[in-house]
Amino acid sequence: MLGKLKFLTAGESHGKGLSGILEGLPAGIPLSEADLAIDLKRRQQGHGRGGRMKIETDHAEILSGLRHGQTLGSPIALWIENRDWENWKIDKMSHELPKGPVPEVTLPRPGHADLAGVLKYGFSDIRNVLERSSARETAMRVALGAICRKFLRELGVEIASHVTQIGPEKTQATIGSNLTEINQLADDSPVRCLDKVCESRMIDHIDVYRKAGDSIGGSFEVLASGVPVGLGSYTHWDRKLSTRIAAAMMSINAMKSVGIGDGADVAEASGSQVHDEIIKEAGKIRRATNHAGGIEGGMSNGEVIRVQVGMKPIPTLARPLRSVDIKTEEPGSAHKERTDACAVPAASVIGEAMLALVLADAMLEKFGGDSLEQIKAHLAASGVR
Ligand SMILES: Cc1cc2nc3c(=O)[nH]c(=O)nc-3n(C[C@H](O)[C@H](O)[C@H](O)COP(=O)(O)O)c2cc1C
Repeated sequence: MLGKLKFLTAGESHGKGLSGILEGLPAGIPLSEADLAIDLKRRQQGHGRGGRMKIETDHAEILSGLRHGQTLGSPIALWIENRDWENWKIDKMSHELPKGPVPEVTLPRPGHADLAGVLKYGFSDIRNVLERSSARETAMRVALGAICRKFLRELGVEIASHVTQIGPEKTQATIGSNLTEINQLADDSPVRCLDKVCESRMIDHIDVYRKAGDSIGGSFEVLASGVPVGLGSYTHWDRKLSTRIAAAMMSINAMKSVGIGDGADVAEASGSQVHDEIIKEAGKIRRATNHAGGIEGGMSNGEVIRVQVGMKPIPTLARPLRSVDIKTEEPGSAHKERTDACAVPAASVIGEAMLALVLADAMLEKFGGDSLEQIKAHLAASGVR
């Protein structure tokens, strides 16, 4: 779904580390490893995470594409080491040793990639599937997204997110339009919720489910301000910005719904309640409301982009569900692995990264150039701001 920008990630959850390559960004973007560290740390937070996040302190090393603190326009390669590799390399994740003393994982977890994955690739060991299907891979997406965030910030675009629901607990908070402020408030909350009353109910809820050996999902909203009019296009299905954002969000592990603006709520509202009236304010044509979430006809309309994303509960359960052993075909309890009870707060940071990747791509498409200065000049000359 990306056109001008390409990215690839590689790496297993308990392998040596994660690699990522981002290709297509212009020269001249100021960038440092410290920029990537901010978002990587934000992804590791959140009430409900499991033991793994205590082991890892994610650091992305920039291997190429940078000189004297500025991008060169060449591919940017990143490397994130898995600290947990030290504990696994001897046997379970050895590249060289043949299959042997390490027991195979044979009881697929309902809700995970396990069963379809082993059947598809012809594996007898579910570990061959779960190592790559794990959301550990999203650490690299966050690092690559952080590079795009730097690029977008240079063009006046800010991205933020906040958690709107954990299980049945929904926030009633009305949010302002300053996205830096929204992110600061969300980052200060253990569940990235802007509503303090709801926050404590969400925390209690996660604790109840964790203690019961269960897990819980929720929803979050990702926002982008300063997006110029006309990113994406109505002219073809795969050029629509909404198509591209929805695909990017659905690509995050465990995301099951995406809504733009008011999302699914528009189904029960009338036209006059849903559509944003066009008004002239301070000499500018704009909207009285933003139910559309900044996108109409598959194009950005200049208002804040709002994307609602729904996450299912984590599949690995401390009190596992019923399963069937793929070797013996005997009934049993699903495989247990160290697990999060709730990862919705972390997922919202991953949502920001995916939106940054899509918007950076769409900005390059519309205002493209080889250097940041050229792109800024094209944006200024377009008159859309
Ligand atoms: C930040 C994050 C952390 C996750 N942590 C876990 C986990 O600890 N255990 C688990 O079973 N699933 C976890 N998941 C969800 C699985 O990765 C996901 O359900 C699985 O890959 C199957 O994909 P699907 O849910 O999209 O079908 C996590 C997802 C995210 C976004």
